[in-house]
Amino acid sequence: MPGPGLELIGQEEIDQVVDVLRSGHVARYGDDNDPTFLAKVQQLEREISVRSSVRHAVAVNSGTSALWLIMASLGIGPGDEVIVPGFTFIASISAVVHVRARPVLAEIDESLNLDPRDVESRITPRTRAILAVHMLGNPARLAELHAIAQRHGLWLIEDCAQAFGASYRGRPVGSIGVAGALSFNIFKTITCGDGGMLITDDGDLYERAFALHDQGHLPLRKGVEMGRRALLGLNFRMTELSGAVLLAQLRKLDRIRDHLRAQKALFKSRVAELPGIRFRDLPDPKGDLATFLTVFFPSEEIARRVATKLETRVAADSGWHIYNHMEHLLGLRMATDKGCPFNCPSYFSEPPDYRAGMLPRTDAITARTLNIGIGVDDPNLGAAFGVTMHDGPEEVEERAARFIEVAGPLLR
Ligand SMILES: Cc1ncc(COP(=O)(O)O)c(C=O)c1O
Repeated sequence: MPGPGLELIGQEEIDQVVDVLRSGHVARYGDDNDPTFLAKVQQLEREISVRSSVRHAVAVNSGTSALWLIMASLGIGPGDEVIVPGFTFIASISAVVHVRARPVLAEIDESLNLDPRDVESRITPRTRAILAVHMLGNPARLAELHAIAQRHGLWLIEDCAQAFGASYRGRPVGSIGVAGALSFNIFKTITCGDGGMLITDDGDLYERAFALHDQGHLPLRKGVEMGRRALLGLNFRMTELSGAVLLAQLRKLDRIRDHLRAQKALFKSRVAELPGIRFRDLPDPKGDLATFLTVFFPSEEIARRVATKLETRVAADSGWHIYNHMEHLLGLRMATDKGCPFNCPSYFSEPPDYRAGMLPRTDAITARTLNIGIGVDDPNLGAAFGVTMHDGPEEVEERAARFIEVAGPLLR
């Protein structure tokens, strides 16, 4: 079972979907005066914006779309650079590329998120934004990244796809930067199969994002509002069916988080005594979503031997999350070979030089990293070993004992 929300799909989600199907209104728009129109997507947007402490939310069909919309709405485009971590899901990078801007890869540190000092060293006159990705359920070093963004006049954007339900110094993720992107794919905290959400406190950004996601229209249009469309958009709308599933899932979010936190605390306490291992740095331990327990081994060799025995893999071997394995990025492969962002003589004299091994600290850290799944079973994140949402303390005890049995002899 990939993520915690998926494991909890039950009667509540079924009832919500049946309501929508019975109503006959399966798209996000309907007549507000028609009592059979249930407006689930609008309700979801309201509930998620309240929960996230921001004024606005735009429901979309994926987290990738939400990221693209944020950057497009900010006017980021050809000639611009966006700083992204080398350890992230490919979408954080491809969203930059598809607004025709250039991703600039930066190192992570032992928080497994962006290293602020490295970010600052990569700022150029072309930099427009820093994309802080909250990997594996834990917020990046937002205070430092926010200060850097302010100092250099840049946007701080939050990729919260893996961290909906986490917070940083008491504030929900996505409410600290100019905007945040959520994902509801099957590996995420809550899910509807595929879906996403853009959250922001910025009214102008909201209007632009809404227009871009719905063929140029103003928010919550009442029909085809001729003469009032601000810009040319596309269609990334969420359906009522997805909205309905997510409303039921949203009501389970606190339960999911409490369960994950308790399970992770127990797992960590059991393996903490192993000599030579360390845990990931958490910039705000209280805000951890707790979907993973990350262990650093003293050497790559030990980490790989433990991973093999537990039938999982080290983070460096992920096929989705490590720049070294993004052959389409390293090969500068776009659907067209004309123009931005890679071969873009109008703005850049040279194509970018992405190479395997170009982020040695990220490589060294991820090669020693094993992620134990606490609520997410994602072999690509190196979390094929662990517990899932339906497991309880007994399973944690059993898996922790297995971990000690495998890792213990190699650490002595
Ligand atoms: C960090 C991160 N960003 C963005 C995305 C993209 O989300 P989606 O799959 O909903 O497009 C994901 C999905 O796995 C992710 O993990």
